[in-house]
Order: sequence, then structure tokens, then C-alpha cells
Amino acid sequence: MVNVAVLVSGGGTNLQAIIDAKAAGKLPDVRLALVVASTPKAYALERAKAAGIEGCVLRKEKGEDPALYGQRLLALLKAHDIQLVVLAGFLTILPENVIHAYDHRILNIHPSLIPSFCGDGFYGLHVHEAVLKRGVKVTGATVHFVNEITDGGDIIAQKAVDVLPGDTPETLQRRVMEQAEWLLLPMAVQQVAASIQ
Ligand code: GAR
Repeated sequence: MVNVAVLVSGGGTNLQAIIDAKAAGKLPDVRLALVVASTPKAYALERAKAAGIEGCVLRKEKGEDPALYGQRLLALLKAHDIQLVVLAGFLTILPENVIHAYDHRILNIHPSLIPSFCGDGFYGLHVHEAVLKRGVKVTGATVHFVNEITDGGDIIAQKAVDVLPGDTPETLQRRVMEQAEWLLLPMAVQQVAASIQ
């Protein structure tokens, strides 16, 4: 079993997909050990609580040295013996010391087909707004390893989703979640966990 921490900032539907996959027996090599939220307002914390997973809040303070924030996060992960980290809608940039300590042990879900619509400023609804503005007919989601380049790490899995006439950023976001993110992320977590244990 691999001890996994899921890092979140918002609603936590991707966390829920992982929790549901675990409950359905689809993550045999995964132990959901910890949920870390970047803000106490993250509804994802309620989801963790309901699933009986330990949850905590770790904020990056305004003006805080990234390396110090990284040390606090690393201490938390170490205290829970975390081997694999999953960014599931986590909106704080991870400092380099964390990325280096968990080389090829941090996964991120991004709501587009990388290398399109990714990088700095592309997160959440902004991604789908940009997709609609550009007028592409296919988008999707990507799970990738995290390195020091935003959305630049090795790709683990991708799934395409159609853009439909009349889509708003909200309808497109929902379709990308339902048809891609919520399937792809649990599968990728299990795949990586199985490969490292
Ligand atoms: C998801 O769509 C995820 O792909 C995206 O934020 C949303 C979080 O939703 N992540 C990014 O844009 C990262 N660049 P959730 O809190 O309901 O899982």
C-alpha cells in the first residue's frame, strides 16, 4: 500500500472521484492517508471528513519564503509517511524543495489536453474560457507528473472531450470533469501507486 496525500483548494470533486474509486475497490495499492487544503474554505475538507480521511489546512502566508512554506509542507507529508502526492485542484504553486523531494511522485490533473491551454494563468474555469474563445472543437484533461515547469512534467494519461455548440465555460467544465477528469485521475493514481510500491 502506498500512502497518498491529496492536495486541494476548492470543491474537491476530483478528490471525491478518488474516494469513490477507493470505496469501489478500484485502488488496491492506494491508502488515502491525508488531505491538505490551501484554505479552510475548501469544501474538499468536508468530503475528506465524510470519508474518514484526516484533513488539515496549510496556508502559504503572504510574502512567505517559498522554501519555508515547502519545508512546512514536507514536514507534514513526512509526519504522515506520504509516498505519493496528488494535486487535485490545488492552486498554490509548489516550491522547488517539495518538487525535488518527490520527483515523479507528484501527480496533477489539468483540465485541457496539454500542451494546449496550460501554463501560468490557466486554471479552473479560465482554461475552458480560453478553449471556447479559441474555438477548438476538442479539449479534454491530462494527468501529469509535476516538475518545476507549470504543467510541464511527463504526461501520464490524457482523454479527449468534445466541445459542443452552445457550450459555456461552466457546461464545458462539467463535461470535461464527467467524461475525463473523474475517470482519469483515479486510474492514474492507481497506476503510479502500483508501479512504486
Ligand atoms: C479541476 O477541473 C481541475 O482539473 C482544475 O481545477 C478543478 C478543481 O475542481 N485544476 C487546474 O486547473 C490546475 N491547473 P475540484 O476541486 O472539484 O476537483
